[in-house]
Amino acid sequence: SGCNSESRGALVVLEGLDRSGKTSQSSRLLKYLEGLGHSVELWRFPDRSTNVGQMISSYLSNKSQLDDHTIHLLFSANRWEKRSLMETKLKTGTTLIVDRYSYSGVAFSSAKGLGDEWCKAPEIGLLAPDLVLYLDIQPEKAAERGGYGDEKYEQLEFQRKVAQCYQVLHDASWKIVDACQPIEDIEKQLQELVLECIMACQKGKPLANLWS
Ligand code: TYD
Repeated sequence: SGCNSESRGALVVLEGLDRSGKTSQSSRLLKYLEGLGHSVELWRFPDRSTNVGQMISSYLSNKSQLDDHTIHLLFSANRWEKRSLMETKLKTGTTLIVDRYSYSGVAFSSAKGLGDEWCKAPEIGLLAPDLVLYLDIQPEKAAERGGYGDEKYEQLEFQRKVAQCYQVLHDASWKIVDACQPIEDIEKQLQELVLECIMACQKGKPLANLWS
């Protein structure tokens, strides 16, 4: 089936505003690919299980305060601490579905007013996704879905700024998917895009680093 041990897995990232549906679509993708017999794992950032992740979690739930630059670097460090494991998994043939990545890092921090280039700098050298699935939703629509929790960034005004900041990050690896379609339609589109990407990786598409 092309799942030979020589071929690498794909790095697939889901991005979007809070309540855009990333989390449920990532678990649907996981189940789908597992069903096809692929070696696949679901990851997410922030990874709250590490020491750095716990500092981030405490910040997001307003239990601690940090300077904007400091929290930005912690989010980045949280990706760096997983980089070598990520590379090993991909090289040994496991596809990773990742819920949020460097684009969240840059979009959320630049929405606070930090410069784009400054935000990107600590992300340089992390693995570049083979595919970024952006679940596109208007901030007002996302807010209507309810379920914004009490976390720091879950406010309409801020999400509007984040949406604008995501706009300038689109590159060739991005596919924009309308997140207001029925959930099964979105699911189908994501499945097709991911299978295509996995095939390209199996055929030898090289792994690259950000930002390239
Ligand atoms: P996440 O755990 O995906 O949120 P949720 O509570 O919806 O499960 O992410 C938490 C918040 O952190 C989210 O609002 C986006 C933000 N974020 C950053 O600001 N920088 C980053 O690098 C990442 C990965 C997330």
